[in-house]
Amino acid sequence: MCGIVGYIGPKQATPFLIEGLKKLEYRGYDSAGIAVFDGEKINVDKSVGRLSILEKKVEQHPVAGQVGIGHTRWATHGRPSDANSHPHTDCTGKFVVVHNGIIENYLHLKEKLIAKGHVFKSETDTEVVAHLVEEYYQGNFEEAVKRVLSEIEGSYALVFLTEHEPDKIICSKQDNPLVIGLGEGENYIASDIPAIISRTRKTYILSDGEMAVLTRDSVWVMNRQGVPVNKKVFEVHWDAEAAEKGGYEHFMIKEIYEQPKAIRETMTGRLAKDDSAVLFDELKWTEDDVAAIHKIVVVACGTAYHAGMVGKYYIEQLARIPVEVDVASEFRYRSPLVDENTLAIVISQSGETLDTLAALKEAKRLGARTLAITNVVGSSIAREADQVVYTWAGPEIAVASTKAYTTQLVALLLLSLYLAGLKGAINPDRLKELIHGMKELPGQAHELLEDVQPIKAFAQQYGFCEDVFFIGRALDYAVALEGSLKLKEISYIHAEAYAAGELKHGTLALIIEGVPVIALATQRDVYEKILSNIKEVKARDAVVIGVAMKGDDAIAKYVDHTILIPATDKFLSPVLTVIPLQLLAYYAAITRGADVDKPRNLAKSVTVE
Ligand code: F6R
Repeated sequence: MCGIVGYIGPKQATPFLIEGLKKLEYRGYDSAGIAVFDGEKINVDKSVGRLSILEKKVEQHPVAGQVGIGHTRWATHGRPSDANSHPHTDCTGKFVVVHNGIIENYLHLKEKLIAKGHVFKSETDTEVVAHLVEEYYQGNFEEAVKRVLSEIEGSYALVFLTEHEPDKIICSKQDNPLVIGLGEGENYIASDIPAIISRTRKTYILSDGEMAVLTRDSVWVMNRQGVPVNKKVFEVHWDAEAAEKGGYEHFMIKEIYEQPKAIRETMTGRLAKDDSAVLFDELKWTEDDVAAIHKIVVVACGTAYHAGMVGKYYIEQLARIPVEVDVASEFRYRSPLVDENTLAIVISQSGETLDTLAALKEAKRLGARTLAITNVVGSSIAREADQVVYTWAGPEIAVASTKAYTTQLVALLLLSLYLAGLKGAINPDRLKELIHGMKELPGQAHELLEDVQPIKAFAQQYGFCEDVFFIGRALDYAVALEGSLKLKEISYIHAEAYAAGELKHGTLALIIEGVPVIALATQRDVYEKILSNIKEVKARDAVVIGVAMKGDDAIAKYVDHTILIPATDKFLSPVLTVIPLQLLAYYAAITRGADVDKPRNLAKSVTVE
């Protein structure tokens, strides 16, 4: 995720660009930049680090100009650096572009452009766009941009400015947000409403495939073929704080709703079009590399550790490599049996968790190969590991992790299938079936989020209970662990998760009349077993909420309430099963009046031991 702004009008552009970027820092903050036309040429100022660094820079060397674009970056292609910061320019410096998204075919385009003599200055996918518009410009900016849009593949919100026609800004979007703010004799562009709300409340919300040409006095919206689109003005009524959360009450619920997109983006470019293989350009492992891995250790904390528990099932069952999962704070104090035939996978949303970083260093010291799964490009963990697989969830602000978890599951599944393919451990038809199923996940997650009313009602009904138990078997057990953590950390209800077969070895003593038990029953292989565990708790008068897959007509007979997730493969179900549990935790916390985004005693990133 990145943030984009643009201004054209009679006022100085820089103050708005900086002010707007500040409001978009939640979308990413590893570098920032602006480009302003000073009446003769375009001046680009950009800098790695927080926006305050750029702000100081432009204060020291102000550029007067009434048209400009800006960007705050959350690195995807290319580490955070001055060169990789946006805006990006072409060879002549006369075209500038800012981008949010991923240009999937950039390598191919870059090769073509280099062959034509273009010189690249950054490692980003975005820079190809600046060179392409230079390549296609023949005196008509709009036509050049249209041609660029017809060549690029992927997701984007793009804003273009050129010295050749400085009386206009052009923008377009596909799968990433872009809003146009309509002023009097001036117009604005932003990734999100908070950036413009102090200037105007009249907006056009661009739809996928639309392109807009902004001048001081007009905004023309058209499709990519140039056919005009009649846009309705969307009047913003939210206050500024609500606008930052996209109209949601909390970042947590906003991030829960961002999961379909985050899941899709994490798969982008990593699945063959014909479903036959997982592609990991960033790994490029050979069969020999994989044969050399005798054991995998997965190390992480909290929610990321729970993702690792799911990863163990994935890797062992699909790739047939033994896996140990450990919490990072334990790993390095137990003299772990790790050597050069071990692959250590560390998982961390922030990439800064001190325990995880220390465990990674320990695994390296012991000779293991290391791989990080993280959400933050250029983070300490990303820099320390031998190789990195990024989750493309975008910045996670709420302390309770949601979209990071589901994207970590997706990354682990991709990795397991990649290992399985290289090891020949999976039948090609089964691989195809799973990849096909993965492609359905964003749509299915979206479907789950469409009707949250029943979950809200359970949360209201049981929100004041003292204890809740989560039970499940196999992959459902791993998801139960995450469900219980979500509930306790934000609602402060005491919650525990059990492998359902373990209850009778002690905890069953705590199951008394009215205690809510959330029973996950999505795994067909152990379905009969979980039903008998449900009967055990029902016999002690527990109230059971069963989570099962659509098409399961039996479950309702055994439980008090049912939540059905879309039907999917047993390996894919954790990505969906966790969503109602996140919602349950969220609405329980709301019912109890808890501070959802900032739960007591907790911090987003734990950089102390
Ligand atoms: C729980 C939560 C934490 C983190 C843990 C690790 O919702 O967010 O348990 O998962 O602190 O953080 P990262 O993934 O940043 O290493």
